[in-house]
Amino acid sequence: MSTSEHNALGVAPLPTLNPSDWGLPSDAEIGELLSLRAPSRSPQAAGHGTTPSFYFLASGFSGLAGHAPGLQVPGQAALPWSPQAHGVTPPFDVNLVRRDFPVLREHVNGKPLIWLDNAATTHKPQSVIDRIAHFYAHENSNIHRAAHALAARATDAYEGAREKVRGFLNARSVNEVVFVRGTTEAINLVAKSWGEAKLREGDEVIVSHLEHHANIVPWQQLCARTGAKLRVIPVDDDGQVLLDEYAKLLGPRTKIVSFTQVSNALGTVTPAKQMVAMAHSAGAKVLVDGAQSVSHLRTDVADLDCDWFVFSGHKVFAPTGIGVLYGKEALLNETPPWQGGGNMIKDVTFEHTQYHDAPGRFEAGTGNIADAVGLGAAIDYVQQLGIDAIGAYEHQLLVYATGLLQDVPGLKLIGTAPDKAAVLSFTLRGYQTEEVGRALNEAGIAVRSGHHCAQPILRRFGLEATVRPSLAFYNTCAEIDTLVSVLHRLAGQRSVLR
Ligand SMILES: Cc1ncc(COP(=O)(O)O)c(C=O)c1O
Repeated sequence: MSTSEHNALGVAPLPTLNPSDWGLPSDAEIGELLSLRAPSRSPQAAGHGTTPSFYFLASGFSGLAGHAPGLQVPGQAALPWSPQAHGVTPPFDVNLVRRDFPVLREHVNGKPLIWLDNAATTHKPQSVIDRIAHFYAHENSNIHRAAHALAARATDAYEGAREKVRGFLNARSVNEVVFVRGTTEAINLVAKSWGEAKLREGDEVIVSHLEHHANIVPWQQLCARTGAKLRVIPVDDDGQVLLDEYAKLLGPRTKIVSFTQVSNALGTVTPAKQMVAMAHSAGAKVLVDGAQSVSHLRTDVADLDCDWFVFSGHKVFAPTGIGVLYGKEALLNETPPWQGGGNMIKDVTFEHTQYHDAPGRFEAGTGNIADAVGLGAAIDYVQQLGIDAIGAYEHQLLVYATGLLQDVPGLKLIGTAPDKAAVLSFTLRGYQTEEVGRALNEAGIAVRSGHHCAQPILRRFGLEATVRPSLAFYNTCAEIDTLVSVLHRLAGQRSVLR
């Protein structure tokens, strides 16, 4: 291969890798596997006698060939040409991508780490780690206030990150992007500021049965303070929201609907755009919880038309302690601040305080400047890989894993909606979920076992806990093979119980 050849991002390609050299099935093998599996699969959801129609078992997929694009170097401008902006899905090579994540070279219990706990948090590429180190080495200062060189650098880096978030979400203006600690804080902010200003006794708040506790408890607290009522959209036996039941809940009393775009416990992708439109036609505002969607699906708040969209940086390869509240600008500006202090004011006297417009009015005090900059670097990374390429690759992994897990005797998948992303919740007959988690940890495999901060949806399926492997674009089919082989061994050890 000529070294003068470059890809669309201006990076010289490495020699094409053969998937079998890395323990990965070839495209043809995946295709064959899936065509063999698709018709025979019948994951039985609780109390549901029909065969769920996994859309992804019937689809065709692009191959694993190609290579990772180059990444932005701290301090250098982003590459001007974006394949996504041109509707092109760049090629994706998981083996090269994995080299960007130093933690993936760790060993646990003498085995290579297999990180399948991505719904809890994701790992950070070297470019994010380097960007944060660069900030502290060259730019560290408080922002906005001081008129000196480092204050200007820090402010540029922080506001530059805000612009990256704006582009990532397709928001209209940087004024619609508020930095917060994470999804939990963003939802609390809306409940405590907008909610307390607007809700009265008799009003209604709607959430779905799928929600994480972070999208239940703040609304419950708001209802307790205001006398409003919390109503819940039920789900079917596959774990998808029932739109006809949702339609019945909507009415003149509905003030806000708050729901997740992807369920952290089941992986269900909700019909978010339709749900937003339905809420708006009832005159309600809508908050979409993007904590589990931003790393897997393209986000477009303009197209979704939601009033607020929230996510956590740490779920999208950025540091912990930084997240985003997107809100429509006019709505943010008519909402009273929830915290008072420095940064968020125009003028203060002992009699009166004048607040900034958004986003400043919601960013009281010194924020998490370095990690906001880290979030900007994570967004650069994701965008240069291409969210569509990421989604397509993860889709392959989900199909592959779903097929193999269904072959494990006594394993029951929980969450079988036709539209799913990256989460494979299950129980294994004869085992407590924590026993499975421990056995997997002994093999170097990190999964979450427990209630996943989503007790209501697990109880909907008669469960208190599941084992939850969750995928990211740096996972491989070989890692899934290792997971499945441990599960087969466990199933074999207690087969007498079946
Ligand atoms: C769907 C969903 N919403 C909200 C949260 C809360 O996110 P954080 O703890 O980062 O605030 C999570 C975390 O797992 C989640 O999965």
